[in-house]
Amino acid sequence: MRGIYSLVSLSLLLGAWAGPVQKRWDFKAIRNPAYPLDVVDKLEESIMPKVEAWMVKRAGKTNNCTLENASVRREWSDLSVDERKEYIRAVLCLQSKPPKAPKNKAPGSLNRFDDFVATHMTMAGMLHSPTNLFAAHRYFIHVYEKALREECGYKGSQPYMNYDRYADDPVNSPLFDGSDSSMGGNGAKSDYPGVPQPFPRPYDKIPAAGGGGCVTEGPFKDMVVSLGPKSTIVRNVPANPRADGLGSNPRCLRRDVNKFSAAGARANYTYMTIMNNTDIDSFYNRYLGQPQLKGDPHPWGIHNAGHYIIGGDPGGDFYCSPGDPVFYFHHGMLDRVWWIWQMQDPEHRVNAVPGQAAMPMPGHGGGHGGMKTRAAAAAAAADVSELVVDLGWTAPPVKLMDLNEQLGGLGGELCYIYV
Ligand SMILES: *[C@@H]1O[C@H](CO)[C@@H](O)[C@H](O)[C@H]1NC(C)=O
Ligand SMILES: *[C@@H]1O[C@H](CO)[C@@H](O)[C@H](O)[C@H]1NC(C)=O
Ligand SMILES: *[C@@H]1O[C@H](CO)[C@@H](O)[C@H](O)[C@H]1NC(C)=O
Ligand SMILES: *[C@@H]1O[C@H](CO)[C@@H](O)[C@H](O)[C@H]1NC(C)=O
Repeated sequence: MRGIYSLVSLSLLLGAWAGPVQKRWDFKAIRNPAYPLDVVDKLEESIMPKVEAWMVKRAGKTNNCTLENASVRREWSDLSVDERKEYIRAVLCLQSKPPKAPKNKAPGSLNRFDDFVATHMTMAGMLHSPTNLFAAHRYFIHVYEKALREECGYKGSQPYMNYDRYADDPVNSPLFDGSDSSMGGNGAKSDYPGVPQPFPRPYDKIPAAGGGGCVTEGPFKDMVVSLGPKSTIVRNVPANPRADGLGSNPRCLRRDVNKFSAAGARANYTYMTIMNNTDIDSFYNRYLGQPQLKGDPHPWGIHNAGHYIIGGDPGGDFYCSPGDPVFYFHHGMLDRVWWIWQMQDPEHRVNAVPGQAAMPMPGHGGGHGGMKTRAAAAAAAADVSELVVDLGWTAPPVKLMDLNEQLGGLGGELCYIYV
């Protein structure tokens, strides 16, 4: 499967389109022929004329971001083996750099990678309110990518995980096969009861898939997980010495690479989430699996389904989930889905913020409904132009509304596309 790549110039593919400008954005995309384009990939290609027209419309009033110099976030299997190893090197580098989080607040943050986990834990309410979920995670991934580049010399972009590619057999995929160009293998066998989900039986849990123990193969087999747990889904994770989970609690990385969860994140679910929901609240709700669709055999919503493809500890922990490096691949995919949704009708969608009709987020392992209900009430009352996304010690605070434009937000600092 590896080694044979077809070189496709996307500008050639796009050349057939009659666009409003002469000069076309131009980059080389290498696609892995083992994975034919799925319905969402095709949908993404189909938005490019709209993206181009939108950029032309916005030109002048903004900044230095153009399609020519936007960076390109690619799917993991579309990267060459060397590119994957270079990304892994950068993550391991971040895990070896001294932390910047204040020692009194997060003594369990042992390195720069952990700083992001500690941020996600302490800012969980802000990161997961309906108004903030999309934009705050966009910023979170951006500043992580920036740290990989600026602190660890990474020249590429944050890769994403197209769930559909791996849904049949995730354990043997280039992402999880345990090779030195994967993001590590599955966890060892471990008994745990599956992941509770707020749906009636028989959908009240995502079944366990046979892993859940320590990752024993691949580049992250020796990774030390320190922060948390705070809301773990697996058994026998030692308690953190601090009630807030921010103390040091060194242990192994655990995962249950889960095809039952992946079944809820297949391309038909992603496609339907994007195409059947024209207003931002319906899109937000469907992304979270709400309300349950009649007769749906995999009702988790792509957000939860994507999280529990990894599961385990800390990946399955609502607060500590960025402690599994694959978190950024999952939220990259979600960011891509938001972008494709926005670009269906950029005029009306780019600055749409979830709020009035956003439903409570179904628990990550259950139990967060109360927080979400309060957050939803606050969201409905919020003046979005005043909202600030503050990631504490990982990045300067920014206006929420400056994060909506993937191509040009933050005065041009956000400038990337997905392929
Ligand atoms: C981005 O591309 C435009 C051409 O489209 C160019 O004029 C500009 O200098 C580039 N900006 C940077 C920072 O590379
Ligand atoms: C997606 O496809 C699967 C079969 O592969 C089917 O069971 C499921 O109902 C479909 N879901 C949606 C939302 O279309
Ligand atoms: C999505 O929309 C299509 C076309 O209108 C419809 O056939 C399909 O049933 C809808 N799917 C869901 C899950 O609502
Ligand atoms: C545009 O300018 C911003 C802010 O100075 C910078 O961070 C970003 O890298 C630039 N973007 C491009 C595409 O050159």
